[in-house]
Amino acid sequence: MNSDNFATWLEVDLGILENNYRILRSWSHTPIMPIVKANAYGHGLEEVTRTLEKAGAEWCGVARIEEALILRQAGLRMNILVLGYTAPQRVQDAIRNQISLTLYEPSLIQPYALQAKAAGHELNIQVKVDTGMGRLGIPSEKAMSFIQMVGETPEFHLQGVFSHFACADEPTKPYTQAQLNKFSKVVNELHASGINPDMVHCANSAAAINFPAARFDIIRCGIALYGLSPSKETPLPMGIKPVMSWKTRITSIKELPQGHGVSYGFKYFTSKPERIGVIAAGYGDGLRHQEGNIVLLRGKRVPVVGSVCMDQCMVQLDDVPEAQVGDEVVIFGKQGDDEITATEISEKWKTINYEVICGMAARMPRHYLR
Ligand SMILES: Cc1ncc(COP(=O)(O)O)c(C=O)c1O
Repeated sequence: MNSDNFATWLEVDLGILENNYRILRSWSHTPIMPIVKANAYGHGLEEVTRTLEKAGAEWCGVARIEEALILRQAGLRMNILVLGYTAPQRVQDAIRNQISLTLYEPSLIQPYALQAKAAGHELNIQVKVDTGMGRLGIPSEKAMSFIQMVGETPEFHLQGVFSHFACADEPTKPYTQAQLNKFSKVVNELHASGINPDMVHCANSAAAINFPAARFDIIRCGIALYGLSPSKETPLPMGIKPVMSWKTRITSIKELPQGHGVSYGFKYFTSKPERIGVIAAGYGDGLRHQEGNIVLLRGKRVPVVGSVCMDQCMVQLDDVPEAQVGDEVVIFGKQGDDEITATEISEKWKTINYEVICGMAARMPRHYLR
């Protein structure tokens, strides 16, 4: 459907996504496991994953088995790794759908094995090692015996061993090298004892960029594929661009007299006769309910005034007298010579660009450019 049909929408440029994938792939000389959890960071799970599969990705990573099953039901055939917890009751679903599960918790070995036995088929397991993040993972000191146990369980195929970094986006801190050392030690010990999982991995986007030694067999990239940098200290390879823009329209324009309140709570009063526009984007779409939001209209930066409502908010139009109902408004993305990035918005909202894009509501249509 043409974007003229929408009051607010996300424009997702699949050509840029594919290009970002190709740039990262050739620049890193390493296969990529795109991370497509959380609706592909807000971009749309199926479309994004299909595009990356066609571009050559052989793996993708999700957080939950529900996400993996959506991909299988959509007909995607690539390998899928569930990075988070899976209830033992779902092991048979995983086996039937050729989904690889992460194991990190000794008490789950037996329930997983029982379910795999009942399914009559091996379960592909990737062991997660906690090298310091303090989240999921068998502590690295216990990793050898745990991995041995997994490897010796006949219902399992030990497909991979991986870890995850806490601070790879802050390359001057010593933590990532310390985590990498711990992980390398585990991998070396495994190889020395004749255990050779099919794949070893630990780099997210930031580690893939800042710590080439962390790339191992495959890099698990999310944010960089979507065209955003994990941090100021992590420069993206040349040519990588943001994939998603958020657009809306002017839905009303009124001349309000001096001293007129605008929106819930009258947080804004006109200081003179003012032209106030309404745009069709609110906190129910992912626009933060806070002061200081700015949008692009006819190539100019225009302030949002008054409280952000659930489905709409108001903009001050004195600097854009030519604005008309129906005009396209950009909340993040390019317009004319200017661009507002999700990163710029995240700084205003005192959060991270990940949260801005993952926070894009499901109700907003994704308009795909191919
Ligand atoms: C285990 C794991 N690997 C990889 C990633 C991808 O991280 P990024 O988006 O920073 O590349 C994530 C994202 O949170 C993750 O949880």
